[in-house]
Amino acid sequence: MHLARFPRRFLAHLPTPLERLDRLTKELGGPEIWIKRDDCTGMSTGGNKTRKLEFLMAEAELQGAEMVITQGATQSNHARQTAAFAAKMGMQCHIVLEDRTGSNNANYNNNGNILLDHLHGATTEKRATGPDFNALIEDMADQMRADGKKVYAIPGGGSNPTGALGYVNCAFEILSQVNGSGMKIDHIVTATGSAGTQAGLIVGLKAMNAQIPLLGIGVRAPKAKQEENVFGLACKTAEKLGCPGVVERHDVVANSDYVGDGYGIPTESGLEAIKMFAELEAILLDPVYSAKGAAGFIDLIRKGHFKKGERVVFLHTGGSVALFGYDAAFDFSDRWS
Ligand SMILES: Cc1ncc(COP(=O)(O)O)c(C=O)c1O
Repeated sequence: MHLARFPRRFLAHLPTPLERLDRLTKELGGPEIWIKRDDCTGMSTGGNKTRKLEFLMAEAELQGAEMVITQGATQSNHARQTAAFAAKMGMQCHIVLEDRTGSNNANYNNNGNILLDHLHGATTEKRATGPDFNALIEDMADQMRADGKKVYAIPGGGSNPTGALGYVNCAFEILSQVNGSGMKIDHIVTATGSAGTQAGLIVGLKAMNAQIPLLGIGVRAPKAKQEENVFGLACKTAEKLGCPGVVERHDVVANSDYVGDGYGIPTESGLEAIKMFAELEAILLDPVYSAKGAAGFIDLIRKGHFKKGERVVFLHTGGSVALFGYDAAFDFSDRWS
């Protein structure tokens, strides 16, 4: 696999660390837990979008774009990281924010990712939730082009075959880390939303015949729909790479039992995961993605899905900036004396 064939803007801090979580492993009494620190990729604190945007923004630059437009939920990490890339590369950035939760909370609407969007110079607009925000921004980009602007549209989550290349590369990176240290791993677990992370990873793992099962913990769509989305994108990504058919339908496994009341609405198990990771390992998760992913991971360990003696890698996809938009989800009144 020759990823250097594709344009890429090298701005990520790679490779990200692969660390053993001793205290969490002891607490849960199951498999040996490792974490792949993609929350440390850099670009406005880091997260999984950095890897995707390296490829997407290079394509934008190559096409002569002076502006990028993208979309996401109010507390979108993807939007914040796109704004950061645009700032670094001297482009304008416009973000269409989809109000998926209806929250009126002041911090949710102004702090966390939103604060950073604006600090990086992006302009934002909010719209009521709707069926196809990717089509909406494509239409807006067409209109801007008709007005003479050079615009590059990036789909929500940076999830298209170009963005997914970033996670093909992450699969290579993980394998090179474990092969280099003689460390056999048995499973990889990640949160899955707009599908690019899981799709890219599975293409990379399958193309290298890694024989490591990958589990996506869904944050929005039901299992069947999530798996279809990931599989569809994995097939297109494999085609782009010149290895069509490398991913089979049964390679794509998602579990959407931890979504709770809906996208962006914190769950008890997610809040428990945030506290466990923070108190035991000094690692910050976010309530929307990585905490729901970790909640599924923890629950499956408790249920014996991963066995003692196995080694499991949790891919930390970032997002802790959103904590500052979700402070109302926590009650720490008992910590004061
Ligand atoms: C912190 C975080 N984790 C996980 C995801 C899900 O990744 P993907 O959209 O590639 O499925 C996202 C997507 O926005 C995210 O922001």
